[in-house]
Amino acid sequence: MAGNLREEGNALYKQRKFLDALPLYYQAANTDPEDYRPYLNLSAVLFELGKYKQSVEYGQKALSTMNDEVRQGVSGERVSARIAKARVVLKDADNFSTTGESKGLDPRHLPRYKPTIGRHLEFFSVGHDTPMSLLTEDMCEECPDDDRLAFFFGGIGDARHFYYTLTFFAASEYRRKTTRKIHFTLNDILPDVFARDLVFFILLDELSYETQKAPTDKATQLELDKKVATLFYLYLCPLVPTYVNDELQRVIRKTMSMLEGRGQERLPSWIYFAPVTCNTIIPLLRSWQSDVFALHSTREIQTKAKLESQKSRINIASLVDQMGMVGLHDQQETNEEKDYFATIMVSPPPRLINAFEQDLGKLLDLPRTESRLNKIEQYIGKNWKVNATMFNVASEKAGYFSDCGNNPFEFGKAVSLAVGTEHGPKQTSGLYATGYLFFSSVATALAESRDRIFVETQLGDATKLLEDTRIGLVQNRDSTWPIQYDHVHLSNVPDYVGGPVASFLYGIPILKSKSYARYSSTCLRNPSHFPTVDHFISEYLCLQDSETTRKIFPYKEPFLEGPEGPEDPADIPDLFSQSGYWSWSRIRDPPLNFTELLSRNETETWLYQLSLKTILPVPRERYSFSQIFSPLNLTIIFRVAIYLHQTGYPAHWLADALENLLANTVTTTARPARRSPLRPTDLRKPVPAKRLTFAPFLAEFRSLAAQWAPVLPFGISSTHIPTRVRRYTLNVFPLNSEDKDGHGRVPAFVLVFWNPARLGPGRMIWSMDLRKVLLPDEKGSTDPRDVRLRENGLAILAVWEFDPANDEAHFWIDEDAMEKWKREDWMVQIWRDDTYRPVSTPLPVRQVPRGSAIEGFMTSFPTNGLTEGEYWSI
Ligand SMILES: C[S@@+](CC[C@H](N)C(=O)[O-])C[C@H]1O[C@@H](n2cnc3c(N)ncnc32)[C@H](O)[C@@H]1O
Repeated sequence: MAGNLREEGNALYKQRKFLDALPLYYQAANTDPEDYRPYLNLSAVLFELGKYKQSVEYGQKALSTMNDEVRQGVSGERVSARIAKARVVLKDADNFSTTGESKGLDPRHLPRYKPTIGRHLEFFSVGHDTPMSLLTEDMCEECPDDDRLAFFFGGIGDARHFYYTLTFFAASEYRRKTTRKIHFTLNDILPDVFARDLVFFILLDELSYETQKAPTDKATQLELDKKVATLFYLYLCPLVPTYVNDELQRVIRKTMSMLEGRGQERLPSWIYFAPVTCNTIIPLLRSWQSDVFALHSTREIQTKAKLESQKSRINIASLVDQMGMVGLHDQQETNEEKDYFATIMVSPPPRLINAFEQDLGKLLDLPRTESRLNKIEQYIGKNWKVNATMFNVASEKAGYFSDCGNNPFEFGKAVSLAVGTEHGPKQTSGLYATGYLFFSSVATALAESRDRIFVETQLGDATKLLEDTRIGLVQNRDSTWPIQYDHVHLSNVPDYVGGPVASFLYGIPILKSKSYARYSSTCLRNPSHFPTVDHFISEYLCLQDSETTRKIFPYKEPFLEGPEGPEDPADIPDLFSQSGYWSWSRIRDPPLNFTELLSRNETETWLYQLSLKTILPVPRERYSFSQIFSPLNLTIIFRVAIYLHQTGYPAHWLADALENLLANTVTTTARPARRSPLRPTDLRKPVPAKRLTFAPFLAEFRSLAAQWAPVLPFGISSTHIPTRVRRYTLNVFPLNSEDKDGHGRVPAFVLVFWNPARLGPGRMIWSMDLRKVLLPDEKGSTDPRDVRLRENGLAILAVWEFDPANDEAHFWIDEDAMEKWKREDWMVQIWRDDTYRPVSTPLPVRQVPRGSAIEGFMTSFPTNGLTEGEYWSI
């Protein structure tokens, strides 16, 4: 009887139907408790299902039920080995931790993206989106009236979505009479953005007190008008009236005193800025007091803004024509727009003109002729001021441009689009009036909800902040602040940080477990590359379709949201299908059931595919404006492994795949991407299994494994994990300024180490096709010299930091590997992995003595080379 049950179970086990086999083995064990064999089976099947503790228990039960002979035979050995493996995976073994404890950096703080070597990021002060509320009707309906809502804005930019959400909140809560609160986490990577937003917060806070009471006299009314005008002009226009600049200077003085803790005043209680953010934005505020005016004259910015806005009008018109989107640009420009493009002036309202600029008023009243525009242009050039908040003085001094070519009427149109919605401002005529309504609505909303909102600002990369928030790694974060959100909005940040990887690994997992909780983002850099969401996913995640993707990331079919989104995604022309806001939500919380997972083979293949895509990006055009970034480094594999484990994937599948990578014993049907973007069809093509070498990437991967092992939720036992990983600093000497300042903003830089002795006589690494040498598959070079180099003479590092002030590279690597490279006289150089070309002078890994020169290489040499830092672990 028990025998039959076991046989039936074994047949199912062989078909990998583990869940079906399980009850049969249980029954067999119950039928004959003295028989060790059902326990053996149970131990095996539970192991396969990832139930390691139970597997160990049944394994031990089997051992104790066996007689000595069986215990010492094959069955005994097999079950003991399984118990040992399960204990390693469980991190329960005596010796699983061959890697030591982390004494240094938490590996989650290692750079997750390849560095840029550029000194500054682009600063676009004005956004383009139609303002959108993250608070939605269904949320208001379903969320309990006294709950706290939490919203996360990554890449907050000019905060338009935040303002609009606030307006919606105040309006809807007023109607419903709820007592809900909202916590907003606002994030951006640029301090300039926060310096600018803070000026607006302070102005709005002031205005919110004043809008509460009706102005009783002319002077109070004028003060109110000035504040709204200040908000309006600073928000949208490169040139501003003098009284606006005076207001700005007053607010800057007040804000700096608040941030520096001088005087009595503190930041309003609804705003939080971390001390580190305050320190970073103070110099920016200071530069808006005078430096910016020394750098730019009004006339210069007037000319530049005219030119830039002309250019963008022409570009948009020709794009629209090229796409045959008839009707999009046949709207006539209004007189107000024509005036703006000729003068860079948006006309102030009559009350302010009468009070401060009667001369301008007279010019505006002249008949509409060319000469009228010339006169207004001259008046503005002479009397108005540069909008300081649109400029970053430090980055301009380093050769960057600040963008002042924004078309303020786009904002007007965007707000008008939102007007149709219930809580948007009412339709108005004229840009100033639209702006007036927008900002006074926000100020009123703030007045009504000041005690119920809290705004936490956090500077840095959005994905890092999301991950750190979820796992409690953000320093000085109040324990009462949310660690789950009702809506996470990432703007187009995913364009820069791995597309849907950012959405699925960081955005969706931090959502509350509510049906209305959602995540949204858009693709703005290069939407035309991705005709469908599946195309977007396949390029960045190497998953061939939504069905496969959902076996890892259980999300609901995304839908387009926002006022501009067509009802039916089929109505969007392919070229723009990704440029709306896609909204995603979770189907349910992890873990998934065993039967819902990808198969073991599919899971391993995916991990290898993602690794190969990460380490060997497809060559891409360096100067292409729409280049698809390939920013990730191999830290992603450890994050994905942790994620998969939490999603229900058995730890031994993951541990074995990692071990194959570490031991360089990968045989797979996965291949490096052959084109950019990688298409779903590429991933469906049948490919033969092949042994692929990861040799040039092993030093890094093994060093990473040493660093990550302590935080992995499962154990890996590998003889390939180094015990001593050290942080090294390499002075890379002054870099070519084009790379550093111009095109160094693409996250595409890696350190290439090579052994010149392995190149073969007369061969230079610079004249080789490095990618072909690195490719381990049928597309790779088969020249024996290249194969030798690939196996033994090359190492690529993509987990490193670049310090542009000191021209220093910091990286973490196995000390033994480094010692070997030094002994063997390896060289190191920074390369781009979009063009596979070097950007720095080559440097001997061994310390180069001061002033020494080495024949046969390029001209200048570093004065100092490698410095050894702290051990990562001991
Ligand atoms: C295109 S803007 C978004 C503006 C907004 N969607 C709008 O139209 O108003 C993107 C913002 O994201 C910020 N950003 C870029 N990369 C980021 C990252 N990795 N983490 C956080 N913010 C980032 C930029 O500084 C910029 O302010």
